This record gives sequence, C-alpha cells and structure tokens, in this order.
Amino acid sequence: MEIRYLFFFFFYAVMKICFATNTLTSYQSIIDHDNTTLSSSENIFELGFFSPGDSKYRYLGIWYKRTPDVIVWVANRNNPLADYFGELRISNKSNQLVLLNSSKIIIWSSNSWSEGTEKNIVAQLLDSGNLVLKDMNSMNSEQYLWQSFDFPTDTQLPGMKLGWDSKSGLNRYLTSWKSADNPSEGGFTYRMATYGIPQGVLAEGSIIKFRTGEWNGVRFSGVQLLTSNNNTLNFTVSINENESYYLCEPAANLRFTARLTLNHSGILERLVLEDRSTQWSIMYSRPYEPCDTYGYCGVNGICKINGDPICDCLEGFTPRSQRCWDVLNLSKGCKRKTPLNCQTKYGFVKVAGVKLPNLLNFRLDKNMSLEECELSCLKNCSCSAYARSDIRHGRSGCLMWFDNLIDVRVFSVKGSDQDLYIKLSASEIKSTRVAKRRKTLKVIVIGSVITSLCVLALVLWCIIQRPRKLKVRAQRIDECIKLPLFDLAEISAATNNFSPENILGVGGFGPVYKGNLSTGLEIAVKRLSKESQQGAKEFKNEVDLIAKLQHKNLVALLGCCIQGDDRMLIYEYLPNKSLDYFIFERQKSSWISWENSFDIVIGIAKGLMYLHHDSKLQIIHRDLKAGNILLDSNMTPKISDFGLARIFEGDERETTTRRVVGTYGYMSPEYAVDGIFSVKSDVFSFGVLLLEIVSGEKN
Ligand SMILES: *[C@@H]1O[C@H](CO)[C@@H](O)[C@H](O)[C@H]1NC(C)=O
Ligand SMILES: *[C@@H]1O[C@H](CO)[C@@H](O)[C@H](O)[C@H]1NC(C)=O
Repeated sequence: MEIRYLFFFFFYAVMKICFATNTLTSYQSIIDHDNTTLSSSENIFELGFFSPGDSKYRYLGIWYKRTPDVIVWVANRNNPLADYFGELRISNKSNQLVLLNSSKIIIWSSNSWSEGTEKNIVAQLLDSGNLVLKDMNSMNSEQYLWQSFDFPTDTQLPGMKLGWDSKSGLNRYLTSWKSADNPSEGGFTYRMATYGIPQGVLAEGSIIKFRTGEWNGVRFSGVQLLTSNNNTLNFTVSINENESYYLCEPAANLRFTARLTLNHSGILERLVLEDRSTQWSIMYSRPYEPCDTYGYCGVNGICKINGDPICDCLEGFTPRSQRCWDVLNLSKGCKRKTPLNCQTKYGFVKVAGVKLPNLLNFRLDKNMSLEECELSCLKNCSCSAYARSDIRHGRSGCLMWFDNLIDVRVFSVKGSDQDLYIKLSASEIKSTRVAKRRKTLKVIVIGSVITSLCVLALVLWCIIQRPRKLKVRAQRIDECIKLPLFDLAEISAATNNFSPENILGVGGFGPVYKGNLSTGLEIAVKRLSKESQQGAKEFKNEVDLIAKLQHKNLVALLGCCIQGDDRMLIYEYLPNKSLDYFIFERQKSSWISWENSFDIVIGIAKGLMYLHHDSKLQIIHRDLKAGNILLDSNMTPKISDFGLARIFEGDERETTTRRVVGTYGYMSPEYAVDGIFSVKSDVFSFGVLLLEIVSGEKN
C-alpha cells in the first residue's frame, strides 16, 4: 500500500516538473535569446517573443501553437524591442509582470502593482489563451490579479469579454494592427457601445463604419448569422449595472477553434480552425455588403440588398434632392413628406424584418409594453419611430427614436422578426395604403395600368402646356451632378415640337429625335417613352453611368431633361448614323475602306477597354451591337446606349441576373441561358461584331 502511494507521489512530482511550463514563477524568466516560451497545459497557446512579418522588432505575444503566425495578443504593441535581449519576469518588488529591455529598463508592465512581500505571484498561460497573474498564497488563488483578456489587442478569443466593467473601470475593445508587420495601434476599433442597449460598433477614428445593430435579446438586429448557426458558437450579451459585455463561447463538443479578429484593413473577421487543420477559414466578415456600411442610404433611407436600386426612402419620406435620388445615389438622404408637428393626427406604419436605426437621439424604457410605447411615441411631437427593445417571447420594452432615422436596412430572410414602427400623419398612411393596394391591383388587373397610363398622358399634356412653371422646378432639382439640365420648352423647340420628321430612329425605350438648339448645336434627343416602368429604371442607369464617363469612343452626353414624368437624354449628334447602316449592305459597305474598318474596330475596342478597365467604374455594356455603334463625321466609332449597362464594384468579376436583356445573336450562350455575365460577355459580343464587320453578314 505504502509503496504504491510513494510511487504515486513520485509520478506526480515528475508530472509537475514536466508540465510546469505553463507557469512562470517569481524566480523564472522568459528570455528572448534563450528561446524560452510558456505553453498552455494542453499546448494550444504559446507565449514568447516574435517578429511579425518582415519586421525586425521584437514583441512579446501569444499565438496558437498550431499556427504560430496567428498572434492573438501583444504585450508591448506600441513599444517594440530593438534586439533579442528582452526578458519577461515577475517583479518581486511590485508583484507584477514586467518586460525588460537589454538595459533592464521596464518597457511594459501588467500595471497591476501591489504591495506585500508575503505574496507568491505566478503567471500562467491558460488553454483559453488568457495570460493570468495570481497570488498562490491568497485564499482564493483562482482570482486573478491581472489577465490579458482584460487588455485585448485585435482579437477576441472565446471566453473573452468585450465591453465595460464598472468595478475595474475597464472598457475592453479591439484595436486593429497598423499593418501586417506592425502590431501597434492602427486606425480601427471595434467596441461594444452601451447606451442602455448594447451594439457592436466598428469605427475608423471617430467615424462609424459598421454597427451590428441593437441587441434585441436574441441577436444583434443588424446581424442575421449569429442565431441561424447557434449550434457552433454561443453568444452572450449581458447587461446590468456592474457590467455590460459581449462574449462568445464555443458550444459543447465543438470541433473547431474560433476567433474574432479586427484586421488591419478594418474588417471584422470570424475565423475558424478545424481540428488537426492548420488553415484558418473565414466563417463570415463584416462589413460584407453595401447595406452593412453605416448609413449607406443616408438619413431616413432604407437599404435593401436585393432592391434595384439598393436604396430607398422609408415609407412617408421623400428624397431630399429629387435629382440626386433619380440619377445618382442617396447620400443626401430623405426627408418627411410632411414634417412632424403637433397639430396633425398620427398613426404608424410597420416595417418588418429590419436593422433598427442607430441610437443617436432615443429613449429606452425596458418596462413598457408595445401599446404603451406606441402611445408614448404618439404623445411626443418629436418621436419619429418606435420598436420593441426585446423581441424574446413574452417580453417587449420600448425604444423610441427622435428626429432622423439612420442606418436602417431590411432583411429578406424569413424569421427576421425585428419590426420598426414609423410615425406618419394619418393622411399619409391612408395614401400609402392606397398606393400599396394599387400596386397589387396593377399586377392583377391590366385595365388599371391603362388607366394610369391615361393619367400619365394627361399629366404629360399638362406639362407640355405649362413649360414656364416647370422651369423653376428643373433648376431646383439640379443639385448634385454637373450635367446640364435642358428645359423642356427648349428641347421642344429644337425638335420642332417632337415632329415625326425629326425622328432618327426608335430604340428600345422610345424614339430618338434630331434637334437644333438655338445656339446652332446639333443634338440627338432620346425621349423615354412612358409605356414601360422598366424604361425609367434604365434611364436612371444610363444617366448615372454616362455622366461619369468620358472617352473619345463613347458617345458624349450633353445633358438631360427631367420634367415631371418626362425624361430625355441629350447627346451629341453624330451625322453618320450607326455602324449597321454601313456594314450590312454591299453597296454601302464599299463606302468604308479596309483602313476605315480597321480603325473602327480599334476604336470600339478602345471604348470597351475604357468601360472595362480604364474608367473609375467597371462597366459591362451588355448590349454591344452594330446598331449601338455610332459614327461621327470622321468615322470615329462611339459606343452608345448604356440603358442596360451594369457597374461591377470592387472585386466582383461575374454575376447572374434573372432578367436577361440584350440582343440575341450578340449574347454569349451562358448569359442567354443562365444569365451569367461579366466583361467576357461584352468580349463575346465584340467578337460577333468583328465577324460582322469583316464578313458584312448579319449574325
Ligand atoms: C481583412 O478581412 C477581409 C475579409 O475577410 C479580407 O478580404 C482581407 O484580405 C483582410 N485583410 C487583411 C489585411 O488581412
Ligand atoms: C419628447 O421626448 C424627448 C426625449 O425624451 C424630450 O426631451 C421631450 O421633452 C419630449 N417632448 C414632449 C413634448 O414630451
């Protein structure tokens, strides 16, 4: 019996010696040039000195043993060591962790100075990646004097709290590295903003880039992923008078390691490492899509990721600048159609499945019911919207917003059960309801379409009859692009009152007229026919695009004319018509020499090159054909008709559409069949065009 005990103690002692490397005692130190490190007991994390990337500086940090290049914490991020003589030890005098340089000067300390000689301080690296400092003589040695989890760098590990603690006065947040070679504090931070209700806020300096939306008891209102996949990671948000934090912990029997890192380009990445793998993969990142960008649609706008356009105004709101709204984007935001005042009767419209507006000017009452919330918002003149602050079953609470509503988006996924109630005047609600009903009716009853077209025609007639009054409006809405606005009367005069004799041709969206301005300038006027709702969208598209483009081989837009429902594009007039006029008839094709043809092909290619690569935007034309190549008096080709063009942004290389538009014969098979298009689709069309020019035969 006794021998067995003896053996056990011996075994225990050996174990203790062999596996004591996770603990640093007061008579040990970690020295860079000795290559000593501290490993957590399961060998998951390691603490030691390192140089990031190409840097020659030395830093003390913690990394994954399996992937040593992934640093999760840095002690001296703003105070690097210039040589390999750094030393980490526990100071007997001040009972804290200190990092000394080659001159034995403290360049970093845990800042947990405490007096008392009878202390037995040790530092321990836990398997969570937390470096802790504790007093072994203390009754409660599991209570930490200090822990690295309270001082995050750019990474949140499972079990690490982000947020605020009133007892210690700590506010824990992530700060990005400056660059891959430099762990010092970069420009981006990610913190838990807790103005009564927590939300994650990613900022560059003081400018908000992205926010998760308010915690509604189930998830952050602007992040859908966090609950849909809750068998992998458990998220906790706790809020009380002592602390308020956000924590993520791996679910039981998790097969991977996870971390949240704010990388130095300001992107928050959730990364996972499968068991036995050494390759981290991205689970998700934020901001990810345009609607994630803070305030993407301006004040009182709403972002719809599948919408066309993406930005819209909230119900009861109208663009601040009509012109900008129509033509470009919504950066100026929206305003109420009828401003709030205390005289009108008000009601609410519900917007379902949203990310709630930012908490700029708001009030939170956790004890109110939704009915009380509504009543309270109704009573206060400046209350503009309200919502439940807690969407868990049987709970409610009340969030009220005053003034503008910023950073609202809508989710298309079912089960996003966060609703927002917007205050509108009773008459406004009635009219939006009518509008809605009309919308549905339009789909069912074709007759009503005809009716509304008649109304439109009437409106148009009125507009033509009263051009002077409209001139004022046209000037008012000309705010955001430098494109000259023409007056309807002016265009009308130039085209002989849109005389049929002036028609140059009829495009997909309406007739094109030749015109002569009073200045003598010859113009081509593309008048959008009002028959199709689609036409309006393509018009916006065309103005938006072409206003930003300038190239010798693209047709120049001189201006536009937007009056009421009437929309026109004013182009330079090209006397030689379009390419198809020349190449498909033997007699006329002899008018063009081979040299001319060659120059035309090169010109088209240059124009296309500009659209695809050289302009500020990457543009896919989608309807390149002989009929859309215009020729000027020198036979210089000019690509025209951008009604179907699409902008590709960032790294987008290919996309699909359900609405395949373009011209058969010029469309690539994958586009015509599956709707997949990219710059290659235009190249395909270009190839067809090239063959047509060479052969003189229509495809
Ligand atoms: C930051 O994260 C994004 C998204 O995961 C990634 O595309 C980007 O390359 C990362 N940047 C750096 C510098 O690691
Ligand atoms: C409306 O609510 C705001 C914010 O709580 C408050 O400052 C204001 O006095 C209230 N106005 C009225 C008329 O109750």
